[in-house]
Amino acid sequence: MELAAEIEPLSALIMDKGKERQQQTVAARDKRCKTVGEPYVQDPRMTCREVSVYYDTTCAIRGVSLDVAHNEVLAMIGPSGCGKSTFLRCLNRMNDTIANCRVEGAITLDNIDIYAPAVDVVPLRAQVGMVFQKPNPFPKSIYDNVAYGPKIHGLTQNRSELDYIVESSLTKAGLWDEVKERLSEPGTGLSGGQQQRLCIARAIAANPEVILMDEPCSALDPIATSRVEELIMELREQYSIVIVTHAMQQAARVSQRTAYFHLGDLVEVDSTDKIFTNPQHELTEAYITGRFG
Ligand SMILES: Nc1ncnc2c1ncn2[C@@H]1O[C@H](COP(=O)(O)OP(=O)(O)OP(=O)(O)O)[C@@H](O)[C@H]1O
Ligand SMILES: [Mg+2]
Repeated sequence: MELAAEIEPLSALIMDKGKERQQQTVAARDKRCKTVGEPYVQDPRMTCREVSVYYDTTCAIRGVSLDVAHNEVLAMIGPSGCGKSTFLRCLNRMNDTIANCRVEGAITLDNIDIYAPAVDVVPLRAQVGMVFQKPNPFPKSIYDNVAYGPKIHGLTQNRSELDYIVESSLTKAGLWDEVKERLSEPGTGLSGGQQQRLCIARAIAANPEVILMDEPCSALDPIATSRVEELIMELREQYSIVIVTHAMQQAARVSQRTAYFHLGDLVEVDSTDKIFTNPQHELTEAYITGRFG
């Protein structure tokens, strides 16, 4: 009886807090800024519609609608904490691995809803591969790093097919000549730039359509960075690439379209040329002219 009397006000307080949080979330949503520019393309490879992402009740991405075209490099820029990585991770359901993270809205790849219950995330993450900020080769040989994807996805029938995929993926990643004599050595023994190209080769070997890159050059020196940038430009011929970068010159060099995020909103998206020479939104202009960020 006494205990119940103590619990009652406490549970009322918890309910009030819950309501307050809910109201805050709704208020934050209402304040959202409408995207300007051209978020949509003809014949998109991927579509995102009204995508919102929450960590518990905190909204990190608010109602983002955006297409990814075939054979384009789409750059995502914006101040730290604005939600670039969070949004990128929605595109191959990597946020599923974060317990308190919830994704709303719709995302398709080749007109298929990637969040449909029937979708298996393992092949999805091969179709939409990912390269991280810090090169993360597996503690395996160079060969096995690249062969890993084709093996687990059953892409090859025999060793010679696997050899072919390993060689062609390393060639596409611009690494074959540097490593062809040392395929059995550990991937972790390569230089940072070579490791990042190995990770790109590993993503390519799984036969992707889209490659997501989250600040792929931020741990690399200028020479390794320029090799990876050249590679990104070449890879566009075959894949769609979505790259998060803090280096605006990098976005300007490698991408055809640029999306500017601010506090969870997609503020503006347009051709890279337009974003960097004639942005429409004052927040984009402030960021690209270095007034904040
Ligand atoms: N696992 C998590 N749990 C709770 N909040 C998170 C988590 N990951 C990110 N956030 C929050 O979500 C917001 C967006 O973070 P995110 O990492 O997507 O930003 P970002 O634009 O990639 O930043 P940066 O440029 O620093 O990498 C931030 O407020 C961040 O603190
Ligand atoms: Mg990030």
